[in-house]
Amino acid sequence: QAYRHLRVEQQGSALLVTIDRPQALNALATELVDELQHVVAQAAAALADGWPFRGLVLTGAGGKAFVAGADIREMSAMSPDEAQAYSQRMHRLTLDLERLPVPVVAAVDGYALGGGCELALACDVVFASETARFGQPEVSLGLVPGFGGSVRLQQRVGPGMARELIFTGRQIDSAEALRIGLVNRVLPDRESLLAAARETVELIARQAPTAVGNAKLTLGAVAALPTEDGLAVEAASFRDAFTTDDSRAGRAAFLAKETPSFPGR
Ligand code: HXC
Repeated sequence: QAYRHLRVEQQGSALLVTIDRPQALNALATELVDELQHVVAQAAAALADGWPFRGLVLTGAGGKAFVAGADIREMSAMSPDEAQAYSQRMHRLTLDLERLPVPVVAAVDGYALGGGCELALACDVVFASETARFGQPEVSLGLVPGFGGSVRLQQRVGPGMARELIFTGRQIDSAEALRIGLVNRVLPDRESLLAAARETVELIARQAPTAVGNAKLTLGAVAALPTEDGLAVEAASFRDAFTTDDSRAGRAAFLAKETPSFPGR
């Protein structure tokens, strides 16, 4: 499959997806969002048949930006209804990323602003380089977050910090992003950033595929639930784990003092 704005390649256990529209700082033109949607659909289909990769790594090309947001040029010609459809198109993509049964790691080098920050927030794990900058500058355009930030920024960094960032539109550097929990880890440069993302996928790849997938979907499902409802979902998910060959293999290997080989079902 040839894409206009993406590069997709397998590296070890990771599917590396590079957003490659550097002339517009990787802004999320509709066509680019559709291409991402296509990659995620293909990934989901491949994972329904087996485990050809164990994680996605999402990054931006050009060295200056992960993603500088929605495409402001394209957006400026939209009617209110078209703007809503644009928002919903991106919501669909982020939900599909969250539904993939493998983790998604964002490797953020440079700007992750507006929709770019929101795309990172839909990833399970966010790593950043020292030069990364995050922000939700929508209010400076007279807009509000539209690609999931209203929901996911508060979930990740808490309601107070989310409000400060959204109301001021100010940019934060990777050190502050780390401090507030928007970012998991900061790496000195792009090379070590991508290496850390790939290594994380390799660590994941040693674990039981169905267990990682179930854990991801359970974490997503309980995030907005009251404690007791979340615990009920967890107990059901824990039960489901006991129906998998992966858990049989994992438990038996522990008792036999062997390294497990997981069948992935
Ligand atoms: C379209 C963009 C763009 C964007 C940059 N470019 N960001 N094009 N949409 N979001 C283009 C510029 O027009 C320019 O094109 C080229 O990329 C390089 O950008 P410069 O501005 O020249 O670079 P620099 O001076 O280094 O400034 C970098 C920057 C700035 C600080 C990141 O580009 C910027 O503020 N961009 C917009 C960031 C933003 O507000 N994002 C949030 C969008 S709203 P030319 O052709 O001139 O070379 C959003 C809402 C989501 O995301 C919800 C919607 C439903």
